[in-house]
Amino acid sequence: MVSRRTVKTLPGHIAIIMDGNGRWARRRALPRQAGHRAGIKPVRNVVHRCVERNIHTLTVFAFSSENWERPVEEVKGLMTLFVDALRREVDELHENNVRLQFIGDRSVLNSELCAATVAAEEKTRENTGLVLTVAVAYGGRWDLTQAARELAREIVAGSITPDDIDEDLFAAHLTTASLPTVDLLIRTGGEKRVSNFLLWDIAYSEVYFTDVLWPDFTATELDQALESYAARQRRFGRTSDQVGPS
Ligand code: IPE
Ligand code: IPE
Ligand code: MG
Repeated sequence: MVSRRTVKTLPGHIAIIMDGNGRWARRRALPRQAGHRAGIKPVRNVVHRCVERNIHTLTVFAFSSENWERPVEEVKGLMTLFVDALRREVDELHENNVRLQFIGDRSVLNSELCAATVAAEEKTRENTGLVLTVAVAYGGRWDLTQAARELAREIVAGSITPDDIDEDLFAAHLTTASLPTVDLLIRTGGEKRVSNFLLWDIAYSEVYFTDVLWPDFTATELDQALESYAARQRRFGRTSDQVGPS
């Protein structure tokens, strides 16, 4: 359990790289798709825990721009799973006042999935609880590049000049513009890398790596990450004397 002491130091925005589905399946001699299917339940558990804990923003990495390089059958299986899961889960998310949104290159998604994401966003748009952002066909470099392209267009159109570009204006052109920066980045599955997830937004995130494979990740594991986060001192370049006791 998260102690009373730590409640005041909860992260406002948690981002999760949900890794380890394939290994979870392999350990059970199951096809990789079974691991991906088993990865739905922990998303539900983490969402509920965030709602319980009053955490406002959760962003999860479901499919990267590099994951298109996987075998065609695996990619197809994942896309089907996303559509099915979305259709199945959206009503409950809506009842829980969750606002669901997607980031990533939607132009490369199949029309069925694209339509399902738009429908889910529309249905939950007015909700005021947890903002759940799912990154699909997302890459941090893609996001930075599309922001740069958009800024270049605005310069060509004459609506801004190069000198107008500062960090705030740049951030306003990212697909994560409406989200606060990430306080806590969690990666399951044991790898210690970022794999082209949110790049700009994690500049000052606390990072929590766990060997637990994503299908085995529970609300209790999330609590452990929250405990770790609460025990840290975020200095943002200052000295510990400047920021005071943690
Ligand atoms: C994460 O699990 C899910 C996606 C990347 C879509 P993996 O499929 O990468 O699982 P491992 O890393 O092979 O165990
Ligand atoms: C990162 O996992 C992407 C998602 C969890 C969606 P990967 O399994 O694709 O990462 P790498 O390739 O091992 O770095
Ligand atoms: Mg992986």
